[in-house]
Amino acid sequence: MNLTATIAGFNFEHVMLNAAGVMCQTAEELDSVLASAHTGAVVTKSATTNLRPGNPAPRYYELPNTLGTINSMGLPNEGFDYYMDYVTKKQSQKPIFFSIAGLSKQENLDMLHQLQDSEFSGLVELNLSCPNVPGKPQTAYDFEATQAILTEAFAFFKKPLGVKLPPYFDIVHFDDIANILNQFPLAFVNTINSIGNGLVIDDDTDTVVIKPKGGFGGIGGTLVKATALANVRALRLRLNPEIKIIGTGGVTSGRDVYDHILCGADLVEVGSQLAIEGVAVFERLERELADIITKKGYSSLAEFRGQLKVIA
Ligand code: DOR
Repeated sequence: MNLTATIAGFNFEHVMLNAAGVMCQTAEELDSVLASAHTGAVVTKSATTNLRPGNPAPRYYELPNTLGTINSMGLPNEGFDYYMDYVTKKQSQKPIFFSIAGLSKQENLDMLHQLQDSEFSGLVELNLSCPNVPGKPQTAYDFEATQAILTEAFAFFKKPLGVKLPPYFDIVHFDDIANILNQFPLAFVNTINSIGNGLVIDDDTDTVVIKPKGGFGGIGGTLVKATALANVRALRLRLNPEIKIIGTGGVTSGRDVYDHILCGADLVEVGSQLAIEGVAVFERLERELADIITKKGYSSLAEFRGQLKVIA
């Protein structure tokens, strides 16, 4: 059975990897994702120029019954140079995605310049969708700002570049963002980031469960699967075929991976369930996925990718 995928000339021997933010802040965590026999790649924690401690704790909470997670980490990361050091020294057979999330357009462009001028030979993911930095909006909800940063970035950036998007909830917004993204030679889009600014309440104490922003935080896990699939599907129907799609959101079973691919995902990322289960999740998900594919009589992902059926 062939569970491989290709983006921008990079071959992925397995269809899954971590979602940025989970199991990827330190070299040890990145190594553990790369060392899994069932991952195709790794993506680094979104970097800012300087090290950031992130928001005050508690800033991450798991809802009961693997319903999902809420986080307001606030981009804790070791700083751009740490990840640059990691990716340039790492001898990895697997492709590496270098995620960046500058707090301004200029910070993102500065990091992209450094990546362009470096020996880094992987893929870059520009995170335009972090919901958790107080006072900073999610850039990709501002279509003009998104167009502006991509215009400036592609004027000099020649390595494979993709964007991490927030979820959209309106057909007009799917049309609008796709029209912008289609103007650029993007290698991929990654959809979705967490659903921003949800609120979870503790039944016993009538209190929010995380401290930053009065309890508001990004929702992930089972709760977001339908939204994630809608975004993968809507963008696959609208984007140029050269722009590949990484499907992220709500993956807790092999069936969830299958559904992302059915909607058009080339690769699938695991966030909340990786945080809950650890890297062993990839072995379980790949086994469950392979069982479904076998039962359906397929032998490769390409046979059903994007082949979602609708009711006539
Ligand atoms: O849910 C998220 N949390 N998405 C991001 O892009 C960043 C992360 C954080 O560090 O808060």
